[in-house]
Amino acid sequence: MKMEELVREIERLKEERNAIIMAHNYQLPEIQDIADFLGDSLELARKAVDVDADVIVFAGVDFMAETAKILNPEKTVLLPTSRATCAMANMLKVEHILEAKEKYPDAPVVLYVNTTAEAKAYADVTVTSANALKIVEKLDSDVILFGPDKNLAHYVAKQTGKKVIPVPENGHCYVHRKFTVEDVERARRLYPNAKLMVHPECEPEVQERADVIVSTGGMIRRAPEWDEWVVFTEREMVYRLQKLYPDIKFHPARDDAMCIGMKAITLNHIYESLRDMKYKVEVPAEVAEKARRAIERMLEMS
Ligand code: 13P
Ligand code: SF4
Repeated sequence: MKMEELVREIERLKEERNAIIMAHNYQLPEIQDIADFLGDSLELARKAVDVDADVIVFAGVDFMAETAKILNPEKTVLLPTSRATCAMANMLKVEHILEAKEKYPDAPVVLYVNTTAEAKAYADVTVTSANALKIVEKLDSDVILFGPDKNLAHYVAKQTGKKVIPVPENGHCYVHRKFTVEDVERARRLYPNAKLMVHPECEPEVQERADVIVSTGGMIRRAPEWDEWVVFTEREMVYRLQKLYPDIKFHPARDDAMCIGMKAITLNHIYESLRDMKYKVEVPAEVAEKARRAIERMLEMS
């Protein structure tokens, strides 16, 4: 099918199924263009709470679709392909959390939403990069177990002054790990008037050289403060920002910062997903109930 035809079919099926398409800011441009709601992981979780449709097609990675399902157990949540997964979320195993809890029994377990539902079931509270600082500051403990992103843990430790222990020791995102100090230096040389917006999943030495450190939603909120930016996150973020702000200049810090899981979803997958009602996201009730407590606590605290 040609692109226009696919889009028409998706629109028709959406109506027939009473469905909406929720998409993350890293999705392909053609998916961003047809999404009913686009956002960062916190905005997507919030939106999932008051969705009015029967079916949510989730154009993002699996942990985001799982979060939507946990918050909406009675709704059908579809992930268009099972290959849409987050490599970082898969790094944190339940055994890592149990080992850390044994060493630090009094420390609260704070988990990034980039985790499996099974891991979230062991969290006291979840966080995203948009609210991690606020939530860790509010917790009544100076020692925090934090997983799985070691770089976000570093950022939170530096800003809050608390002892933030990364679980596992080396959890990271391979997309954000690509950015180096050389990329920062090249950006400063090529675009001397630009400011640098950096995602907190980037390495500490890149964070230290940033003008602002923000989630993808934060990038959207802060962009109007300046007229030229170099963007240190997944490459599709530039499409999202440029479309919102045609008069501001945005440069990707690297063209090869691409998340394979996010890019596994195509328009055709979305069409097939609505046509065949696949792939239904299911979370075992016992796991979902525990994970929901941690996610709801996050929504209350931020
Ligand atoms: P945001 O919450 O900033 O959208 O980040 C999600 C993510 O997976 C970043 O790699
Ligand atoms: Fe996960 Fe990194 Fe992809 Fe974000 S960019 S979804 S953290 S692998």
